[in-house]
Amino acid sequence: MAQDDKLKKVIGHSKEYGFVFPSSEIYDGLSAAYDYGQLGVELKNNIKNYWWTAMVKMHENIVGLDASIFMHPTTWKASGHVDAFNDPLIDNKDSKKRYRADVLIEDYVAKIQAKIQKDVTKAKKRFGDAFNEEEFLSTNANCLRRSAEINSINERFKTAMNAEDLAGVKQLIEDLGIADPDTGSKNWTDVRQFNLMFKTELGAVSGDSGVIYLRPETAQGIFVNFLNVQKTGRMKIPFGIAQIGKAFRNEIIARQFIFRMREFEQMELQFFVKPGTQEKWYEYWKNARIQWHKALGLGEENYQFHDHVKMAHYADNAADIEFNFPMGFKELEGIHSRTDFDLRQHEEHSGKKLQYFDPEENKNYVPYVVETSIGLDRMFLAVLSASYNEEKLEGGNERTVLNIPPALAPVKAAILPLLKKDGLPEKAREILKELQFDFNCQYDEKDAIGRRYRRQDAIGTPYCITVDHQSLEDHTVTIRERDTMTQDRVAIADVHRIIGERVAFKNLFTQA
Ligand code: GAP
Repeated sequence: MAQDDKLKKVIGHSKEYGFVFPSSEIYDGLSAAYDYGQLGVELKNNIKNYWWTAMVKMHENIVGLDASIFMHPTTWKASGHVDAFNDPLIDNKDSKKRYRADVLIEDYVAKIQAKIQKDVTKAKKRFGDAFNEEEFLSTNANCLRRSAEINSINERFKTAMNAEDLAGVKQLIEDLGIADPDTGSKNWTDVRQFNLMFKTELGAVSGDSGVIYLRPETAQGIFVNFLNVQKTGRMKIPFGIAQIGKAFRNEIIARQFIFRMREFEQMELQFFVKPGTQEKWYEYWKNARIQWHKALGLGEENYQFHDHVKMAHYADNAADIEFNFPMGFKELEGIHSRTDFDLRQHEEHSGKKLQYFDPEENKNYVPYVVETSIGLDRMFLAVLSASYNEEKLEGGNERTVLNIPPALAPVKAAILPLLKKDGLPEKAREILKELQFDFNCQYDEKDAIGRRYRRQDAIGTPYCITVDHQSLEDHTVTIRERDTMTQDRVAIADVHRIIGERVAFKNLFTQA
């Protein structure tokens, strides 16, 4: 399936089956705002649960927090967001379309990178087992020329951005001959900075004194509570604070379904460490986070690290975990070594000490921080797009199936009486009662059994429990497995245990 097609299909499927709806659709929707439907909310909750289990429940030294969205406005001055949370914006004068200048340049670089990759793939085919990719990249003239070009573009861009030389960024776009991706026009305006924070007013106060912001990241709620949690939880460094919550950014272009929105959810960890140990913990968290992703079984080849060229204003080291979305490899999660920037800034702006007394060192210090930050909506899109499959079956039939990892599936089991009579519905409902306290289940007695299986495949239900006449005689049912479509006959008394074992998060952790 072509990747472009896949995104369209995933969007259509999401709407048809109640995963994601366009927001306020009866008023023709609101650009880049979406609502999670009856199955979407279940999948989202399961992803949150998987993250919370891995971060908070599985680490003795990590605790949770739920900070408010509104914060004192000085928070955002201290964090640098008022002055530096900008995207360089450029308009095309002919198409009137607005773009992020950095994204236009990144896309240009990605095309050169793709050419290098193409050469590597060709050479791999030609040389077979004897192929040495590292040697090829360091000796092949085309690859070397292209790599040098990438380095030179990145260097020019970084220098211009660091010097806040927006004319230099425009010059780079012009020198590279970058055109409006939609129309091909090269008639650009100047580049200017655009602050991404949403402003609003607090209560009855109007004017500048009442201005507050919708938080653009959840992280600052953790920093300002650092000492509250450390003292009341008697936390010893290294320790972490984890949080899941909404964040808001007035993105210049919000697009690609739920990939880039103006209201979204983040799952963030701030891990406080002794200064000088941040490099070790940065590597620890890079490794832990990629394991968490790969344990889902969505395909190891779908992940890659991307080390940052242009670091955020607070970081001394940063990498993204990129996922192979239908639109190609894009950022799913960021891992930042944030130094002591945030805590020091908050000390300075609040006049309060935000230091830790280290009993082993017998001294106070401002801890360093390693952050992991993943967008919940992007994770949702990663799971949904990697799970969406159209399969040709024996006998010429087709099915659309969501191969969602069972632990994340919105509905764990469907209970299906073969017929709507002969006491089968009653028996099926008894089983439903037994399961529904622990698992999200559906009961369905409408249509032929084959059609009911297809409906469950389409929403990713991993197990269908069918109650037939034999069930009344020997107290057994069949359990049909979604991916293989095989059926096993098991005792009704064992169904709860079997489903529980197969959908447990524990399975993911033992694989990791
Ligand atoms: N506290 C660090 C921070 O916010 P970020 O790289 O700006 O870092 C972290 O954002 C993650 O939040 C991203 O990797 C992405 O998954 C998600 N994210 C950021 N902007 C988003 C948007 N507009 N829509 C959806 N998800 C977004």
